[in-house]
This record gives sequence, structure tokens and C-alpha cells, in this order.
Amino acid sequence: MTQHPRAEIDQLAEASIAALRAPSILNTQPWRWRLASSHTELWADRARRLDGIDPDGRLLLLSCGAALHHAVVALRAAGYAADVERLPDPERPDLLARIRQGTPGPADGELYRAIYRRRTDRRPFGDRRPGDAVLAELRSAAERHAVHLHVVRADQVTAFASAVAHANAVERSDDRYRADILAWTTRPRQERDGVSARSTVPTGPRTLTPRDLNLAAPATLDPGPGSDLGTVYLVLVVDAEAPAAWLAAGEALSDVWLTLTARGLAASPISEVVEVESVRTALQRLLGGVGHPAIALRVGHPAPDAAPVPVSTRRSGTDTVGLPGQP
Ligand SMILES: Cc1cc2nc3c(=O)[nH]c(=O)nc-3n(C[C@H](O)[C@H](O)[C@H](O)COP(=O)(O)O)c2cc1C
Repeated sequence: MTQHPRAEIDQLAEASIAALRAPSILNTQPWRWRLASSHTELWADRARRLDGIDPDGRLLLLSCGAALHHAVVALRAAGYAADVERLPDPERPDLLARIRQGTPGPADGELYRAIYRRRTDRRPFGDRRPGDAVLAELRSAAERHAVHLHVVRADQVTAFASAVAHANAVERSDDRYRADILAWTTRPRQERDGVSARSTVPTGPRTLTPRDLNLAAPATLDPGPGSDLGTVYLVLVVDAEAPAAWLAAGEALSDVWLTLTARGLAASPISEVVEVESVRTALQRLLGGVGHPAIALRVGHPAPDAAPVPVSTRRSGTDTVGLPGQP
């Protein structure tokens, strides 16, 4: 059955709207969607790149890759295969993807539902370690995007924790880095972006201390009773230091994160280990020297009776999705 173009556009518009829920570095939401008559385009919004934290734009592209995967998940939930051309025009490198609805197929709503349940959970997790079966499932989710998933082994955790600590020490003494954190944790409410103190926790005693997002205002999310003893650390590893690989890593990050959410697990990214070049190289060596670390993630079971993490804000479709005929 041929679909009326209007219905196709509605489907693509809905996918672009679902993609607004994607995670992004400091909730910068560095993307724009442009709807055309038979496809939608995902564009990088370089004005939202973080000068201090992300001069190469790798985390911007990871964030956009997550948005791309969210849109594909939304189309699949509506019963379409989603047909994606990545980086289709070498003359316009900020055009990251062109997505068509694709052929009708079985509707798959599981990851779609996880889009609205997923949160960055920065609290200590519970005692119980995620099992091998779910970790294998997360590995498959990453490999669907040709991205390798490395589970940091028990004998590597101390070295990994010191890499995180070193990255944080380097960044704390860098004014440009501090300026990015201050700017994106104090955004005016009406901008509907940035990280709110409602979703950050005070740094407490842990195996690994992630970055302090509370330079401007104290954290207000209760860390709860979690011991963090069961937490596992994952690293997504790509084959190249290049835009196409960072985009794929973002798609893999989204696939892994939505899959673990669907299985009742929670996560928060640790990107400081790839932001500082010397730490990135040290992490690469720790992982055996094969491939390039793109991002790390802490994953665990939420502590028993943990309250839901408040939902974080997003810009509206009006601000981020251009309609056909609009510039
Ligand atoms: C590429 C990328 C890097 C991120 N790095 C960190 C990080 O280092 N620390 C952290 O606490 N959250 C990190 N986040 C999570 C974002 O802060 C979070 O997605 C955003 O604030 C929106 O909140 P939500 O995920 O709860 O919707 C990262 C997210 C992405 C996509």
C-alpha cells in the first residue's frame, strides 16, 4: 500500500520529536531537524558545541548519533524499517543523516517505551551486579553499530578510576572547561536545556568519583542508599578517530542505554575520560591498545526503593524541527 505523503511526513515529524528526548553532553541538544517531503534531515548545531570540553565536536556528534538512533527507534515502533543515509554529502559535513520511513515491518515498541523512561542516573547503584546475560545483550546492541563494548574487568577498575580522577583533576584546573560547566548548569529556565541541580548528586565516597557538576549550585537529588558495589563500567570503542565513528558511537550509546533501561537497569555516562587526550590514550592502553575509546558508562541496578530521577528539560519541536518550506 502506498502511503499518502502527508502521513509519511507526520511519521517523520513524530520521530524527530521523540528524538528530542535523546541524551546529550550537558543537555546541549546540539541538533536541528529539517523535514522535507519524503525524508527528514538531522543537522549538527555547531553553535551548541562546548569550546572547552569538546573542541573537536566528538561529544556533539555522539549526542547527535543518540538522537539519530532515537528517531530510528520511533519509526520502528510505528512499524517502519527506517532507511538511513549517514553523512550523505561530503560538501555539507553538518548534514549528519537523511532518514526515510522505509518499508513497513513489524512494529517494535520496547525501545520506544524506554525513550520516555530513560534518565541519566548519577546516584550510587545497588549491590547486585548486572548479570552476564544482560551484558551480552548490551554488547550486541553496541555491535549493531559496529562499535565494540568493553566491560571494565575487576582487575582494571582501579586503573580506570584513577584515569577518571586524573581527567577531573586536569579539567578542574582549566578555566575553559569550568566556563562550560558553569554556563550549562546555570541556563535560564526558558532555554529548556542544560543540567539542573535537581538531577545531580553530591559527590560521596565511591569506587570512582565522576565529575562534579555542582560548581554553581549544590546538588539537590538525594543520592539514596546505594553502595555502588554492583556497578559495572562499560567503554564504547570505535575503529577510528573520525566523525562517522563518533556518530556511530552515539547510535550505539543510545541502543545500549535504551536496552538497559528496558531491562530495569540505570546508567550515567562518564565522558571526561575521552575529553582529555592523555587520559584517552591511557584508557586506550588499558583496554589493550585496540581501537579508540568513545565514551564510558556506569551501569547498575537502581538501589532498592530508589525514587525516579526527575525528567530533564528539552527544547520544543518549534525550536528544533524545521517544517518543509521553512529555511
Ligand atoms: C555524549 C554524552 C556525554 C555525556 N557525559 C556525561 C558526563 O560525563 N557526566 C554526566 O553526569 N552526564 C553525562 N552525560 C549525560 C547528560 O548530561 C544528559 O544526557 C543530559 O543532561 C540530559 O539528561 P537525561 O539523560 O536525564 O535526559 C552525557 C551525555 C552524552 C550524550
